[in-house]
Amino acid sequence: MTKICLINGDGVGKEVIPAAAEVLAALGLGLEFVEANAGFEYFEQRGDAIPDATLAEIERCGVALFGATSSPSMKVDGYRSPILAMRKAFDLYANLRPVRSLPGTFSRPNLDLLIVRENTEGLYAGRERLEGDTAIAERVITRKGSTRIVRMAFEQARQRSVVSGQPSAVTVVHKANVLKVTDGLFRECALAVAKDYPEIAVKEMLVDAMAMRLVRDPENFDVIVTTNLFGDILSDEASALIGGLGVAPSANIGEKVAVFEPVHGSAPDIAGQGSANPIGAILSAALLLDHIGQGTQADRVRQAVNATIEQSVLPRDLGGAATTREVTRGVVSNL
Ligand code: NAI
Ligand code: MG
Repeated sequence: MTKICLINGDGVGKEVIPAAAEVLAALGLGLEFVEANAGFEYFEQRGDAIPDATLAEIERCGVALFGATSSPSMKVDGYRSPILAMRKAFDLYANLRPVRSLPGTFSRPNLDLLIVRENTEGLYAGRERLEGDTAIAERVITRKGSTRIVRMAFEQARQRSVVSGQPSAVTVVHKANVLKVTDGLFRECALAVAKDYPEIAVKEMLVDAMAMRLVRDPENFDVIVTTNLFGDILSDEASALIGGLGVAPSANIGEKVAVFEPVHGSAPDIAGQGSANPIGAILSAALLLDHIGQGTQADRVRQAVNATIEQSVLPRDLGGAATTREVTRGVVSNL
């Protein structure tokens, strides 16, 4: 039986993860849920933002559904970001962020793209320092990291092509014209991997141009692969095409463990009001189902979300007035 580790975290995480778990439970697959702690609130109570017991539980389960945590913008002694700690502990090197049209006026039509973001290095390698009045961040790009993330992108493209019956394309996004050494290496690795996938078209795009094209003609893209920070920014941008952060799901994939989470944060401005949009978390649960070989059930969940939107059961961020509970009930009844 599959065990799923549930980590609510802070703020709206406490509202959207129980909602997603309710949808998973309603599938009747006999999934088992185990709850674990992490977050800033937990840190304030216990002095640890993600205890070893939580990491051990995630490892035991192999898959986790994570809400969001509040991270202070200033350095707080002893605090470590739980999602960064998980990515590091389990080497969750691939961040998959699908962007699919939803059947509402808030979403652009005909979109089905996948952003594959490197998740462990780049500017998020944590190598920052002060030298007097100069602050320096090192951007770490490795051959191993670049090769495996691009391979993941091409494997995803191959799978998508099998499912859709259409040819697939991978766009490699970088800034190698300026960052000649770091993105030069990323680009070199990407073009080398591409040779193993002759049936998949490969394109290259500079990140600034990509940001523009995502607004102008996103329907012309299939799989986009890029480094850590660029992927973070482009995927938030892309989420705006389909209704915003409230609906965007993501997966953090490693060799042994995978953690699924909505793209949004803890949303302190709306937390505790029961109005958070649970769709990002529910679609993240669908990605979890895909990952554990329950693709048919994942599609069932996605169809139930679409039906709920078509019935205009919309939360506040999508222009409606439905509460988190009402949207969740809508999805469950549409299953
Ligand atoms: P945020 O994603 O929490 O909120 C941005 C805006 O989107 C807010 O107006 C919020 O109300 C809205 N929003 C987010 N999720 C929503 C939902 N489910 N339903 C309806 N509206 C939603 O990003 P922000 O404000 O930049 O960060 C807040 C906190 O979250 C910070 O402490 C930040 O560090 C943390 N954060 C954590 C992440 C994680 O744990 N993976 C990711 C991003 C931010
Ligand atoms: Mg982000």
